[in-house]
Amino acid sequence: MTLPAHEAYELWAETYPPVAHNPLMRVEQEVVEPLLAHLRATCALDVGTGSGRYVPLLYATGASTVCGLDFSLAMLKRGHPRSGRVCGDACRLPFRRGVFDLINASLMVGDIADLGSWTREMARVLTIRGQLVYSDFHPSWAQRGWSRTFRSADGAMHDLSYNPHAIDDHLAALAAAGLRVRAIREPRFSSQRDDAEPGVKAFRRRWGNPQVVVVFHVVKEP
Ligand SMILES: C[S@@+](CC[C@H](N)C(=O)[O-])C[C@H]1O[C@@H](n2cnc3c(N)ncnc32)[C@H](O)[C@@H]1O
Repeated sequence: MTLPAHEAYELWAETYPPVAHNPLMRVEQEVVEPLLAHLRATCALDVGTGSGRYVPLLYATGASTVCGLDFSLAMLKRGHPRSGRVCGDACRLPFRRGVFDLINASLMVGDIADLGSWTREMARVLTIRGQLVYSDFHPSWAQRGWSRTFRSADGAMHDLSYNPHAIDDHLAALAAAGLRVRAIREPRFSSQRDDAEPGVKAFRRRWGNPQVVVVFHVVKEP
């Protein structure tokens, strides 16, 4: 049975460490981390923060305030102790307009059905010239029919639903929200490192090394 997102994350939280813990997350972080490392911020938001993987990297931008938002209380309990932790829905953020000069949202927009609402909400809480860095499952996933799975603390495997978004849909939503694209990255597994992981070599043999993640770096237009 495929679990809806909220139910799945409540169940997954117990076994969800605050570091990149699978090859997909490592590929994603290899791209996101250098993007964040070039940015300077004062007030940062991590949307869909989960167990707070990106909180230390957001503090490293110089931000004096970092807030992690998530709709799963179980995930927030595992969140980073240094950050503010707020329970809320990414499509109805409990913040005023123009509060954050940096937003990160890693591997969570695939949980959002209405990409337009989500993108408008990111733009609303960003300052003018504020920056948004976010990642999504690459459209390769939907094209090839891959599913998302995780193992809960009792050892059971579960399927997790997600909403595939085409790159064109991201671009249309960003343009409509007044967010200008500065960079798009579409990384793949790397043969030297990731082939050592159980499953990745077989994956690459079967699928021929497609892009697995898409990362956007965008800025709010004045
Ligand atoms: C795949 S996890 C990623 C966690 C973290 N960003 C990371 O990359 O390590 C997605 C997270 O987004 C949260 N999430 C999904 N949909 C959400 C929504 N509509 N509002 C707030 N949080 C949401 C989930 O609870 C989960 O913690």
